Amino acid sequence: MKIVRHIAAVQLDGEVGLVPTMGALHDGHRSLFRAARSENDVVVASLFVNAAQFDEQADLAAYPRDEERDAAIAESEGVDVLFAPEPAEMYPPGFATWVDVEEAGDEGRSRPGHFRGVATVCVKLFNIVRPRRAYFGQKDAQQAAVLKRVVGDLNLPVEIRVLPTVRDDDGLALSSRNARLSADERARALALPRALHGAIGTADPVAAAAAGLRDLDPDYVEVVDLGDARVLAAAVRVGDTRLIDNVVLEGALS
Ligand code: PAF
Repeated sequence: MKIVRHIAAVQLDGEVGLVPTMGALHDGHRSLFRAARSENDVVVASLFVNAAQFDEQADLAAYPRDEERDAAIAESEGVDVLFAPEPAEMYPPGFATWVDVEEAGDEGRSRPGHFRGVATVCVKLFNIVRPRRAYFGQKDAQQAAVLKRVVGDLNLPVEIRVLPTVRDDDGLALSSRNARLSADERARALALPRALHGAIGTADPVAAAAAGLRDLDPDYVEVVDLGDARVLAAAVRVGDTRLIDNVVLEGALS
């Protein structure tokens, strides 16, 4: 696996699959790498902690960084090129152009500026890597919906692939943030997947999930349209940690 730090050095032949990441890789990322490996000639993973998408500075400062570990995981899953630029390579002095999606649902309203940062860095990555397909996890359903909107609205020649959420044995969706939960917080956090799964098939899934999440003081419960699938999504705070999750209500991910 080649590690590339400069945009000018990204030179690729064949059909490319891109897995954008901010590192802190877990089994959810592994499933994206595997899908990309099986569907493309060349697999590129990006490793870039995108400060522009953090709405809380404390969250950015606490974000785990371990390039050596992440590179070993990417390599073990058949990634060909790891694009790991420095911040100034992506946002040089004078950078002034942003991709701002006007409608980004409840998650967008809860985190002002977050999806502007995500959309901007992803459009930059699509232009740098020129992938045929780009891979994202269902856990970040609103992110996937925003990126599908961007790709449609701006006629970008990339297919957004959304792969099912990977969960721990207790049902909690894998996330780099789970490491911040104490044992007690983790036990309380399990109400999130339980409430969402329990709401599937009820007459009013949003109300059913909200009732199951009463004790966690949810930011929101909403239905997100991913085109081929509709998911029931929620965000909660457990102690200082914000967690999101969702389940498919109708259709199938693609
Ligand atoms: O999902 C993430 O890790 C990030 O939002 C992404 C897509 C890599 C953009 O920085």
